Amino acid sequence: MKYLNIKTEKETKEIAKAFAKDVKLGTVIALFGDLGAGKTVFAKAFAKELGVKDEVISPTFNIIKTYQIKDGKKNDKVFCHVDAYRLNSYQELLEIGIEEYLNYRNTIVLIEWADKVKEILPKDTVQIKIKHLEDNREIEIKE
Ligand SMILES: Nc1ncnc2c1ncn2[C@@H]1O[C@H](COP(=O)(O)OP(=O)(O)O)[C@@H](O)[C@H]1O
Ligand SMILES: [Mg+2]
Repeated sequence: MKYLNIKTEKETKEIAKAFAKDVKLGTVIALFGDLGAGKTVFAKAFAKELGVKDEVISPTFNIIKTYQIKDGKKNDKVFCHVDAYRLNSYQELLEIGIEEYLNYRNTIVLIEWADKVKEILPKDTVQIKIKHLEDNREIEIKE
């Protein structure tokens, strides 16, 4: 799926919300895009639609931040937000304990700056590329 000529932040949020509606537990999502492309904007709208009630803030310093998904159903579900920007290698993400969340049946993982940790992405990772062009953006979702 490719969205072209995205002009507003609101449109990016709508795309993130629509994507969140069909996403299955256990999914790992890799977000690619330059600084300011809109990865965190996407992540926040995505998390909100999943049912995260707490404020989602970019985990730039902690690298990994987890949130409870409260969608009205009983089972515990977790949204795991990763910002790999400051990492020098995928090993660092393993050291912080990412494996606990990857493909875990109750967890949805979203990784910003996923190109930094390509080596640890599961085969079935959903890839989302956000391109920031001169006066618009493009979002490509590959499942
Ligand atoms: N169409 C758009 N989609 C996403 N963000 C947009 C858009 N238009 C403008 N912006 C702005 O661009 C910035 C994107 O920042 P952010 O999501 O933190 O980027 P990233 O996480 O990719 O570095 C925000 O300040 C946001 O308001
Ligand atoms: Mg960001």
